[in-house]
Amino acid sequence: MKLAISGGKPIRARKYPQWPEVDRSDVRSVESVVKSGKWWLYAYSKDEFAMSGEGTSRVEAFEKAFAELQHVRFAYATSSGTASLEIACRAIGLKPGDEVITTPYTFVTTSTCILNAAAIPVYVDIDPLTYNMDARLVERAITSRTRAIIPVHFGGVFADMDALRAIASGHDLKIIEDAAHSHGASLTGNRWAGTLGDIAIFSLQESKLLTAGEGGLITTNDEELAELSWSLRHCGRSRAGKWYEHERVGWNSRMTELQGALLLSQLSKLQGQNARRRRNAQVLSRGLTGIPGITPNPQHPQTENDVYYLLCLRYDSAQWDDVPRGRVVKALNAEGIPVTEGYCFPLYENPLYRNVAFNAQGSPYLTGRPGPIPDFRAYRETCPVTERACRSEALWVAQNLLLGKEEDTQDIVRAFQKVFENRAELRTKGEG
Ligand SMILES: Cc1ncc(COP(=O)(O)O)c(C=O)c1O
Repeated sequence: MKLAISGGKPIRARKYPQWPEVDRSDVRSVESVVKSGKWWLYAYSKDEFAMSGEGTSRVEAFEKAFAELQHVRFAYATSSGTASLEIACRAIGLKPGDEVITTPYTFVTTSTCILNAAAIPVYVDIDPLTYNMDARLVERAITSRTRAIIPVHFGGVFADMDALRAIASGHDLKIIEDAAHSHGASLTGNRWAGTLGDIAIFSLQESKLLTAGEGGLITTNDEELAELSWSLRHCGRSRAGKWYEHERVGWNSRMTELQGALLLSQLSKLQGQNARRRRNAQVLSRGLTGIPGITPNPQHPQTENDVYYLLCLRYDSAQWDDVPRGRVVKALNAEGIPVTEGYCFPLYENPLYRNVAFNAQGSPYLTGRPGPIPDFRAYRETCPVTERACRSEALWVAQNLLLGKEEDTQDIVRAFQKVFENRAELRTKGEG
């Protein structure tokens, strides 16, 4: 069969399911808030300045439902996963010049939350199989300035939290769990994403497993961190204080009632969607075992509820006669399979690290005083797995590609098979 990229018939012409999935319940839910005229979180507050009204907040109802889903004591909704990360950094007491150990294979704000606290991200390489922070490398990255660890459950695959927790408790470090990709995920023994560190965050941005376009959550079982997060999200107010009394420097990171309403109706679909993705991920993983050089990243061995923000595949060009990954991606895209290469460079290679100014104490730009700038490019030497994942190995199958029927998933396998069989042609074809 001729490759579609060379003018052949593509494996599929139909698009994969659109994300987010929208139905009448979403419209009704948002419509009722629009009609109520109560659009902000404090529309139902009894405070004299909050324009109080009868009824219950959709945001608070959503927080309660999400806390139940994730088996966590406290869940507070915010304007974004990024806002949640910044609040979490402040809540754990991060100070200028502190160091935070994190992963270079993630979205930028897992690190900019550290920089915005005038602290310094310290990167350890990722595990070659899961692409999560490699817990075996964390201990040697700890210095006298280290205060916290921020792991990510990349793609929904759990980081090695047992190992990270043991290290953290041995060195008196806090853990902020970035669970942006992990709505509904759990390990055996009732261990849920969002409960495995001191404090955790979820993203509700449009690509995520649960979304209102934008939005985020902070979860924790720690009462003190919960109160601080509540306050920091709410301009630094305290529950006991008067409306215009602010205890600390905070942010307005509140979620709107319109988002809360949409999230409540979307939440009722999450488990079904996660189950569909789970089935299709199995179909895909099984199908791909027949194709050399394409290996799905495994789930954590103790996973009970596995979720798929994306199914990450590892591409081994040596088994494809050295065809570069970029050509395989272009060929698959032409076949109607929109896989991507994911993060094309490690986080520490971002231009922001060349633009950030550090002061003499080695803390970042907030003081504006120039000083010795850590050479973030040195991580090229210490993070070879991240380099490989970004530059030649990772292939991302986004979550919406796993929302179709089994037949739709088999098309992904068929496309890989077809492109593999025609790899000789790709070796001579074009750039990238
Ligand atoms: C791992 C990770 N952390 C944090 C975020 C930030 O979330 P948000 O886009 O809601 O600010 C994202 C978003 O893509 C993410 O993937």
